[in-house]
Amino acid sequence: MFKITQLRQAAPRALKEINSLISKLSLSRIPPKRLTGGFYKKLLGQKDFFLFGARGPHGSNDKLVGILSIYFVRIPTGLIACAEDLIVQEDYRRWGVGRLLMEKGIEMARLRQARHISLRTNPKRVEANRLYRSLGFKQMAANFYRINLFR
Ligand SMILES: CC(C)(COP(=O)(O)OP(=O)(O)OC[C@H]1O[C@@H](n2cnc3c(N)ncnc32)[C@H](O)[C@@H]1OP(=O)(O)O)[C@@H](O)C(=O)NCCC(=O)NCCS
Repeated sequence: MFKITQLRQAAPRALKEINSLISKLSLSRIPPKRLTGGFYKKLLGQKDFFLFGARGPHGSNDKLVGILSIYFVRIPTGLIACAEDLIVQEDYRRWGVGRLLMEKGIEMARLRQARHISLRTNPKRVEANRLYRSLGFKQMAANFYRINLFR
């Protein structure tokens, strides 16, 4: 019912749909910055970066209902993958879209022979935490640090 494809072209319609999706991502009151056309183009042009989109359901004029970003990095210990910004539009949650997107990411990481896929998620995101565990992700003990350089 839903089709997962790699988004390759910086089409204005897709940009609008992605902005609508990322506006739902923040848990804080500060909304995430809107993706501009220029940044979107640069994003898609990056080597080793993949933006997957879920379109459907059939008959909905192929609406973009979810996205997932996966990128690959070579470090001295090998090739690793990272997943970010998995979002499914509210009206289409619990239809299996999040799972399909992440399975696609896992498939790609396997094909590229990445050692592992890392991701972070807020413990408050119950749905996301359940989804990742059900896919076989294991929670790692780690201190997560960040320094904010700009707001
Ligand atoms: C997390 C998210 C992407 C899941 O997308 P989804 O398409 O609704 O998920 P799926 O329908 O594929 O569900 C897959 C599994 O996730 C878990 N899950 C999803 N929604 C859930 C809910 N409301 N309550 C409990 N578990 C839930 C279940 O384990 C489910 O498997 P099951 O249906 O066999 O029980 C979606 O809820 C979302 O966009 N949330 C807001 C953004 C977010 O938190 N992103 C993650 C950032 S790291």
